[in-house]
Amino acid sequence: MKKLKVVAFNGSPRNDGNTSILIRHVLRELENEGIATELVSIGGQTLRGCMDCRRCFENRDRRCVFDDDIVNDCVEKMIDADGIILGSPVYFLDVTARMKALIDRAGIVSRANGGLFRRKVATAAVAVRRSGAKHAVDTILHFLLYSGMTISGTPVIGVGKEIGDVLKDEEGLMRARAAGKDMAWLLKTIAFADHLEEST
Ligand SMILES: Cc1cc2nc3c(=O)[nH]c(=O)nc-3n(C[C@H](O)[C@H](O)[C@H](O)COP(=O)(O)O)c2cc1C
Repeated sequence: MKKLKVVAFNGSPRNDGNTSILIRHVLRELENEGIATELVSIGGQTLRGCMDCRRCFENRDRRCVFDDDIVNDCVEKMIDADGIILGSPVYFLDVTARMKALIDRAGIVSRANGGLFRRKVATAAVAVRRSGAKHAVDTILHFLLYSGMTISGTPVIGVGKEIGDVLKDEEGLMRARAAGKDMAWLLKTIAFADHLEEST
């Protein structure tokens, strides 16, 4: 069977902040299960919103026509992966602007090309100080579901304000580890089913 791979995107400008810590806890469990992982920090990079030019529907080349930021690299990584994790800190009760830009642009490129992310296994990870975690998780889940992905387990929510605070949130870390185990289980189950189908 082919080596499975999960790519995670961190929407925080703090590369080693609380969202990153939560995502890394998920990734560690996946790696323990022999799954390759990659963590991409989009928070400090240039990533603009969708211009609604509809050129992706004309070109249908799996790319956004605006090629001067990181979006096409991100889309390629998503296409290439078996599993996708979107992580964001809560900013004004929602995901960060860059995470929303990734959702809008990757989402429309996917749709213009017949659903590039369909059947991938996915989940959400959110770092929150106090309020808005559910809303931010919902923003991510809506994208995952409307892109035809399969959600594994329970989304991760970790509580913290300053960098590293989330390490004191035992339940948040437990959820992150559980999310990694659940994702590994689902990825392997699907890969095994695909393998059986191919060999019959
Ligand atoms: C612009 C901004 C807006 C924020 N809005 C909220 C909010 O609405 N609710 C909340 O609980 N925390 C809010 N926070 C706090 C962050 O969600 C929190 O510090 C989180 O742990 C940061 O994660 P990070 O270290 O991965 O960046 C906000 C922080 C910033 C900088």
